[in-house]
Amino acid sequence: MAEVIVVDTPEAAGLLVGAHIAREVRAHPRFTLGVATGSTPLPVYQALRAEAAAGTDFTATSAFALDEYVGLPPGHPESYRAVVDREVTVPLGLDPARVHVPDGGIDGIETAGERYETAIAAHGGVDLQLLGIGRTGHLGFNEPGSSFGSRTRVKTLTERTRVDNARFFDSWEDVPIHCVTQGLGTILDARHLVLLAFGESKAEALAAAVEGPLSASMPGSAIQLHPRVTVVVDPGAASLLRFRDYYRWAQDHKPAWQGI
Ligand code: GLP
Repeated sequence: MAEVIVVDTPEAAGLLVGAHIAREVRAHPRFTLGVATGSTPLPVYQALRAEAAAGTDFTATSAFALDEYVGLPPGHPESYRAVVDREVTVPLGLDPARVHVPDGGIDGIETAGERYETAIAAHGGVDLQLLGIGRTGHLGFNEPGSSFGSRTRVKTLTERTRVDNARFFDSWEDVPIHCVTQGLGTILDARHLVLLAFGESKAEALAAAVEGPLSASMPGSAIQLHPRVTVVVDPGAASLLRFRDYYRWAQDHKPAWQGI
């Protein structure tokens, strides 16, 4: 079972996870961080900025993004390449050559998934993968129906996800229809998964992912197959968890040396 940590606020989650990542980077400067986009991981990036300002050196750290939209013009501010550069690469001082995002350009899109898989494998994999969860239960952009064995590939976004992400675009027509996303199998290869969720709008998907049956209809449930998963949530996102009292009890009695 995943370790579930309920904290009071997204900021507290960011501080907890950010401190853990910074400790890992100080111990292993060539650490590889799997970065997610969306609003959920922003408190972690905020905390990492403070860690960088306080002296943690991220210049040898690598990053691999989960996904990218297909067909956005290069440099589009809402492309995940631009978001990762804005939120992670520049503020943390990562070497841009070590920051990888799937190639969503139309030219060569047929091989984008395979090329990304090759890059991750050649690098030696991802040490810690940050994850948010969509209201459809998607991880990355693995919409319901995604195989637990799937690898990086082109997917079609659901209407629900397009509606949720429309706020980042000027018009509905501008919201991409396709994406390139790491597969659930790719995500499960990371050595540690850290899933974050905040607010009641995520409660249903979160409970199904953490406690529901394993099902391709709920891509988030794939985390149950991974030996090391940390789920950090606020009370709103935790509100439908059946065993939340136990999770709190376990946290209250957790040996300090275990970390997250
Ligand atoms: C986006 C991303 C996911 C993210 C999810 C939730 O579409 N592809 O990686 O986890 O949807 O977004 P948010 O964190 O903004 O709620």
